[in-house]
Amino acid sequence: MKSYLQIARAEYQPKLPQALKGYVCAKEGEPTHSVGNQEEIKAMFPNTYGMPIIEFVPGEKKDFKPFNVGVILSGGQAPGGHNVICGLFDGIKSLNSESKLYGFILGPGGLVDHKYMELTSDIIDEYRNTGGFDIIGSGRTKLEKVDQFEKGIEILRELGIQALVIIGGDDSNTNACVLAEYYAAKKYGVQVIGCPKTIDGDLKNEQIETSFGFDTACKTYSELIGNIQRDCNSARKYWHFIKLMGRSASHIALECALQCQPNICLISEEVEAKAMSLDDVVEYIANAVVERAKDGNNFGTVLIPEGLIEFIPAIKKLIAELNDILATPEAQAVERENQIDYVKAHLSAENLAVFNSLPADVASQLALDRDPHGNVQVSLIETEKLLSQMVEEKLNQWKAEGKYNGKFAAQHHFFGYEGRCAAPSNYDADYCYSLGYNASRLIANGKTGYMSIIKNTTAPADQWIAGGVPITMMMNMEKRNGEMKPVIKKALVELDGAPFKYFASKRKEWAKKTAYVYPGPIQYFGPTEVCDQPTMTLKLEQAK
Ligand code: FBP
Repeated sequence: MKSYLQIARAEYQPKLPQALKGYVCAKEGEPTHSVGNQEEIKAMFPNTYGMPIIEFVPGEKKDFKPFNVGVILSGGQAPGGHNVICGLFDGIKSLNSESKLYGFILGPGGLVDHKYMELTSDIIDEYRNTGGFDIIGSGRTKLEKVDQFEKGIEILRELGIQALVIIGGDDSNTNACVLAEYYAAKKYGVQVIGCPKTIDGDLKNEQIETSFGFDTACKTYSELIGNIQRDCNSARKYWHFIKLMGRSASHIALECALQCQPNICLISEEVEAKAMSLDDVVEYIANAVVERAKDGNNFGTVLIPEGLIEFIPAIKKLIAELNDILATPEAQAVERENQIDYVKAHLSAENLAVFNSLPADVASQLALDRDPHGNVQVSLIETEKLLSQMVEEKLNQWKAEGKYNGKFAAQHHFFGYEGRCAAPSNYDADYCYSLGYNASRLIANGKTGYMSIIKNTTAPADQWIAGGVPITMMMNMEKRNGEMKPVIKKALVELDGAPFKYFASKRKEWAKKTAYVYPGPIQYFGPTEVCDQPTMTLKLEQAK
């Protein structure tokens, strides 16, 4: 059974940039360079380095032979993934109705294990404008080894697949680039195209305005934060500590703050830049609690980015050493129950002191599991509880010293998975469909090692610009799992960027007053100013 909204939403025809509505021609720019470590990246990607940026402009009618395409959803879910696949399907069919689309099941692992399904129009129609990645499922298998690439080519050949589209974040697109280079070097005749996905919003740069899913996820969280703020302002008895997803960068927290105007929003990148300790962060929050209590306001909201802990300089140093220790084969052979002792025996004295100062559950989370890309699983660390506990202790101390006489009671929330599979906003529905449709044009133009890009997205969709950017252009060298590797540079919140500057100019006022905004639920039908707004982050960034 489907809800009435699902049925009505299935009928929505996503908008396309004008340039993609007819036949296209690829306009090529100047050769490109990687953002860092140019000589090293060039040597590692001799076949895909230096290619030009591409913009599609209207072109002449051409006939295309049928061509088969494979698609993979990689990493965490993000609203709009189904529309990328629908756009890709419609795009290849528009060039030749005999072309076929195959989906690899449960992420990159499906390519290696030869698990796939053909995506026919009946299946595609069930998933138009829906949230989730359940059409083929997603996974975090890291595609990086030659034997995986060789297993991949077996099934790609068997299915007559000419191009593979990998829908993923920075790590998955890095792998897409390595795969593109490998297949190009081997002259296997299979193209690889990436699509920028992640609710975290950290896959963006001069060429990529935003990663898809960020818009919908932030709007979903902002609705919930707004609801909490109404409750908070009605009961006037709780401080709500709200942790928000976003593994490393604080884009989600910042965007939600811009939409909701909470009393406090921590920005990890600022905490790092100011070299704040955990105690400094606690004191910052506690001071705001004291100031509001002076006006009789014993309530408030605090937004906490999930990656905060990794940005506190002393903890960052500790994590870097832990990563090196855990990457050795010797450490990997240690039984789980002995891992903490092993780690403690190998840490430097300085980092051991920091490790021992952390609450046991936080310390063990930092020392245990990594995801397949070597990242700390920050979504499992309960920073919201850690901070509220420490704020309470500080306030009790100040009360005993006669510096504070308010009341403090906390509630805790973590918003993450709630937003990753929401039905895409109009922005994400259109953006994703365009990204997928555009990927079909990159394939038809013989491109490999490119990411599908759609720009100028704060303008109406028919003015959007479609094209491709070489993935090598976004790369630099970084340490991963104890080794230097070529990776796409993650975009963190820029402290001199317009979104942060706007927030910084308002936050004192928001901390003291109750200036809450209640954004309400995402709207799909109705006035355009209600339904089609991009994020505040994007509007402020594009206004410069
Ligand atoms: P991607 O970068 O793969 O899109 O995933 C982002 C994310 O949602 C983070 O915000 C979060 O920390 C992480 O995935 C959670 O991972 P998992 O889904 O494996 O629990």
